[in-house]
Amino acid sequence: MTILVTGGAGFIGSNFVLDWLADPAAEPVVNLDALTYAGNRANLASLEGDARHHFVHGDIGDRARVDQLLATHRPRAIVHFAAESHVDRSIHGPGAFMKTNVEGTFTLLEAARAFWGTLEGDEKAAFRFHHVSTDEVYGSLKPSDPPFAETNPYEPNSPYSASKAASDHLVRAWHHTYGLPVLTTNCSNNYGPYHFPEKLIPLMIVNALAGKPLPVYGDGQQIRDWLYVKDHCSGIRAVLAGGRLGETYNIGGWNEKANLDIVQTVCALLDELRPDPAGPYSRLITYVTDRPGHDRRYAIDARKIERELGWRPAETFETGIRKTVQWYLDHPDWVADVQSGAYKDWVGQHYGAR
Ligand code: NAD
Ligand code: TYD
Repeated sequence: MTILVTGGAGFIGSNFVLDWLADPAAEPVVNLDALTYAGNRANLASLEGDARHHFVHGDIGDRARVDQLLATHRPRAIVHFAAESHVDRSIHGPGAFMKTNVEGTFTLLEAARAFWGTLEGDEKAAFRFHHVSTDEVYGSLKPSDPPFAETNPYEPNSPYSASKAASDHLVRAWHHTYGLPVLTTNCSNNYGPYHFPEKLIPLMIVNALAGKPLPVYGDGQQIRDWLYVKDHCSGIRAVLAGGRLGETYNIGGWNEKANLDIVQTVCALLDELRPDPAGPYSRLITYVTDRPGHDRRYAIDARKIERELGWRPAETFETGIRKTVQWYLDHPDWVADVQSGAYKDWVGQHYGAR
């Protein structure tokens, strides 16, 4: 038995594969990843020579390739992470988001449906298609609104969240129409090791260490609900193992924080762990033009996954953010490697002026 992971060279996917294979009894992983700017084989370096990890460089939109992988490896589950994931990039170039997040998920669902149709008995009953999604599909909350429950209406506001919402709807429809055994998880903002430094937390860490400005959008009072990536991975494992077919589960850490507080926390940890003789890192905080259509607040009601599956996060924000800052301090080579690639060109093009 194997599992097929898509997007397993990205931030969350690589953490998921590493955590999965940390269990000596775990099933092998076939890891299908197109290695876009966000995919990094270095994230998986510790699995070199591990026969339980089979990396495949390919696109989820390549139907023939996916069919061939399913026929060869006969996975008992597909865990689907592959996506374009950055809101700012989706504003500058939405096309890639429609291609991978919508069309790619459609292709993967069709391939999974055809493969599942060939299965029988226990193998057919055990098969799962687990779709990894985001809380951003629910839109933006007002300060007094309750956190997002699974029953909230979908109100996506960015090209990214619209493309993820579309993919969630496809997954739902493939269950209701064709009976495909699907599970969907909608998670809040993740942070932790291997997070690409275009997203808020890793960008602030690497910029601070380089003495560069820390760009805070608008007034910095937008709220996100932060979850340590390894807790997201344990939530996915819990849903994959025991989630009810066709259901969605919200995953979050009950950790609502304003962006400015996040940036100040990162600065304070760096002041403690890697003091800068030039002064406190918070001197680098710079307010820049707000993101168009910027969602004001996300927050997750994670009671369903706790009630049904007993899942709770292991980290508090304080323990998780300390581990994360320490990880970046301990991995300057990984940061340098990422920064010397396509990421740098994109940053130059889009962030150069600020
Ligand atoms: P990421 O951008 O770091 O990684 C995406 C991975 O998918 C990369 O390895 C990339 O090479 C691969 N990929 C992209 N297009 C592909 C294609 N067409 N075929 C095959 N592989 C392709 O993203 P992430 O932050 O790890 O997010 C993973 C998933 O989790 C996404 O579906 C995202 O929507 C969801 N999610 C992310 C967060 C978050 O805070 N990062 C929160 C909730 C949900
Ligand atoms: P991001 O990490 O891009 O995640 P998302 O947009 O999916 O929530 O951004 C998190 C928050 O931080 C978001 O409100 C935008 C803000 N932000 C900044 O203020 N400055 C930055 O340089 C970045 C990348 C994000």
